Amino acid sequence: MAAQRGEFSSRLGFILAAAGSAVGLGNIWKFPFEVGNGGGGAFVVMYLIFCFLLCFPVMVAEIAIGRKTQKNAVGAFVALNKPRWSFIGKLGILSGFLILSFYNVVAGWAFGYVIEMVSGNFDIGQHFGEFVSNWMRVGLYGLVFMGTTAYIVSHGVQGGIEKAAKLLMPSLIIIMVVLLVYALTLPGAMDGIKFYLIPDFSKITGPVVYSALGQAFFSLSLGMGALITYGSYLNKDQNIIQSTAMITLMDVGIAFLAGLMLFPFVFSQGVEPTGGAGLIFITLPGVFEELGPNMGVIVGSLFFLLLSFAALTSTVSLLEVPVAYVVDEHNVPRKRAVWLTAFLVFLIGVPSLLSNGASSILTNFVQIIGMAREGATDHSFMTFIGWVANDTFLPFGGMMISIFAAYIWKKENLAEELSHGDENYKGSIIEKYINFAISFLAPVVLSAIFVLTVLSRFFGIDLVG
Ligand code: TRP
Repeated sequence: MAAQRGEFSSRLGFILAAAGSAVGLGNIWKFPFEVGNGGGGAFVVMYLIFCFLLCFPVMVAEIAIGRKTQKNAVGAFVALNKPRWSFIGKLGILSGFLILSFYNVVAGWAFGYVIEMVSGNFDIGQHFGEFVSNWMRVGLYGLVFMGTTAYIVSHGVQGGIEKAAKLLMPSLIIIMVVLLVYALTLPGAMDGIKFYLIPDFSKITGPVVYSALGQAFFSLSLGMGALITYGSYLNKDQNIIQSTAMITLMDVGIAFLAGLMLFPFVFSQGVEPTGGAGLIFITLPGVFEELGPNMGVIVGSLFFLLLSFAALTSTVSLLEVPVAYVVDEHNVPRKRAVWLTAFLVFLIGVPSLLSNGASSILTNFVQIIGMAREGATDHSFMTFIGWVANDTFLPFGGMMISIFAAYIWKKENLAEELSHGDENYKGSIIEKYINFAISFLAPVVLSAIFVLTVLSRFFGIDLVG
């Protein structure tokens, strides 16, 4: 049975796959513009603190639950004799569907940019609005992206997920380093670095703290059982604490490098770093254009290839969550489970696809349902799904997973599981901190995010900007 479910072949394989899940559009697309809006270095400092103090313990708990039970996000709770708690996993699967449905749309844009740039549409950034509203074309790019994701997942844990991560993650790092070195040679690079690294703590406001927290949580792929699922393919010899540290470091490190590469590009052309979501798809291609047709195409297509690779290892993990559930609990063969799920997710993603200009109802969705906030410019259905899944379900899921690990499964059992592969765990200071974090810190902080999100996104009491 275990052999049939699949298992990562090595510690490195697991770490790269989980880091691949973590490193995604969140790190390279969202992180830099959050930094831009959050006033630079102050945001970076907060993000780092949240990743290590709050997210790290939650990740440890997820992986431990998975490895203990060797089951998917729903089955894990049943295997621990707490079937009533499997609603956490069910909510996770729903979140996975929703997140993947719009995440794949943005991934399709990134992939589309590579193709457009290479085939001579060098000034694609100037036509972003037109590009995203052409639903047939972006739909096709999205379909190719989802197809590639499904192809990888259909080859199982070792032959698909692990193999792809081992290929894509090193490639991603190499491209990143090449671009980073190049960016640092541009005139004005230093101003970008200064903006990025010198913290201005007066910029830290409630909304900035809220978005740094949400960003850390999303970036580490927490709260929907993705790491329960990946942990379930991990063997008992592995040291979970060490692996989690590596995954967190890689995720944070790559987000950090992405910013270090991006701001020199942005400042070298003297454009504003607060371009919002458009920073990557509009501002940046404009910067690449300034580099001249040859260099511009090379740098531009490499950048969007990097973004596509990052997104691909993340869509793989998002798809694996429902697939593992269907395979484990309903005995559906993996290949069939994968293609059916991917097709379904693509269909669910159609409204998101149409919500960037193609359909005016879906493009103005948030306004139409009367939930638009003052000053907001993006009212798309896609944004709305992000509020529901990323901002509401994930913190709720993370809070529930922490409470479950601390009080239902219980800290002793968690410690027992974590001491496999780490003889010194019990009694260590790390154990004490993890116990504190999952039984107190995470439930308090995550329930606060949850409440703030619900009040401000859905009840118009604007507390988080
Ligand atoms: N962490 C990824 C990113 O930063 C997105 C992602 C992949 C994710 N799998 C997840 C987010 C599971 C939450 C849960 O882009």
